[in-house]
Amino acid sequence: MFDQLPAYADDPILGLFEVYKADPRPFKVNLGIGIYCDEAGQVPVLESVRAAREAGVGARGPSVYLPTEGGEAYRDAVRELVFGKNADDIVVVQTVAGTGALKVGADFLKGVLPDAAIWMPDPTWANHAAIFAGAGFRVENYPYYAKETGGFDLDGAVSALQKLQAGSVVLLHPCCHNPTGVDPTQAEWHALLDVIEQRGLLPFFDVAYQGFAHGVDEDAWAVRECVRRGIACLVASSFSKIFSLYGERVGALGVHAPKADKARLLGQLKLAIRRSYSCPPALGAALVEAVLSSPASNAQWRAELDAMRGRMREVRTSLHRKLGEALPGRDFGFLVAQNGMFSYSGLSAAQIEALRSRFGVYVVSSGRICVAGLNASNISHVCEALAEVCSG
Ligand code: LMR
Repeated sequence: MFDQLPAYADDPILGLFEVYKADPRPFKVNLGIGIYCDEAGQVPVLESVRAAREAGVGARGPSVYLPTEGGEAYRDAVRELVFGKNADDIVVVQTVAGTGALKVGADFLKGVLPDAAIWMPDPTWANHAAIFAGAGFRVENYPYYAKETGGFDLDGAVSALQKLQAGSVVLLHPCCHNPTGVDPTQAEWHALLDVIEQRGLLPFFDVAYQGFAHGVDEDAWAVRECVRRGIACLVASSFSKIFSLYGERVGALGVHAPKADKARLLGQLKLAIRRSYSCPPALGAALVEAVLSSPASNAQWRAELDAMRGRMREVRTSLHRKLGEALPGRDFGFLVAQNGMFSYSGLSAAQIEALRSRFGVYVVSSGRICVAGLNASNISHVCEALAEVCSG
């Protein structure tokens, strides 16, 4: 019965992280998995989150089940964070981080649109296709990244979306596109939303980095514009990165469905959750709720988020300058044009392998570099390694 199991090639991101952890070389640098590290190379505990913990949030007491959809105060706080004020018609449920939100959304949609395909940007986060294929979707791609320019392929995306059947699901990254770091401008978002509206398509936004590109509200602009236009959409949010709560698995799924009966919509989402993992974990959500709900903590957290964004910008600028000096005549402008944690380097498989084996520099096999793993102590080593493999 179990003698013909297929081999699992391991996940290109999580698998690499395990290899990195097992590497004994002291000079190794992790630019693989999307984890924000501070200037000291540590995963930070945000002060706003620490203060909530010290005030007793999540203190050990009886551990009871949360409601299937999560607590009301958490859901209200997240609704405002993602959709802004006056968004009462959006149904939000707590999920097991962003991956859980994508999975719950996929299972829910499969019930509503059993024959729909999902169209994803080319490229996209490696796990997107697996989640939706696992939920029974046909997975297709639309052009996103233009290799020639290193920018967004608006014409390619628009002409692909124009050919889709009404009711097709379209996966979108509102900010800090993973893995390229290339985001549409507001004018380009308008063009995308125009087609989506005209063709009756269903956007499914994945927001894992709200605040890492330009700011909390700025980075939610495409989502809010979609809602403003009255377009139905789903939004998966992850708080792993922006609250530095990777291990707590905190997230949410928001559904904007103007024509739906809200109680039934919530009921269908609860059904998808109940038969998947029953109800969400408590601690991380309690911390996020406490930080978002107190005006002082919320302001403190936003300042911390601004600082993380600022550090990533500085690292990009410094990498751009150092690589320009090491490899004169090459254009590294993409490093400063892209947003968020990730930069799409265009490195070949052989270069990526050489970075890892010779220099202990870990980069995802797609060529994605997590700039949030760079700091003043390791950037010179990484630049020398990159210069070496690029000129070799
Ligand atoms: C990433 O893209 O590196 C992160 O979202 C971590 C993950 O789960 O892949």
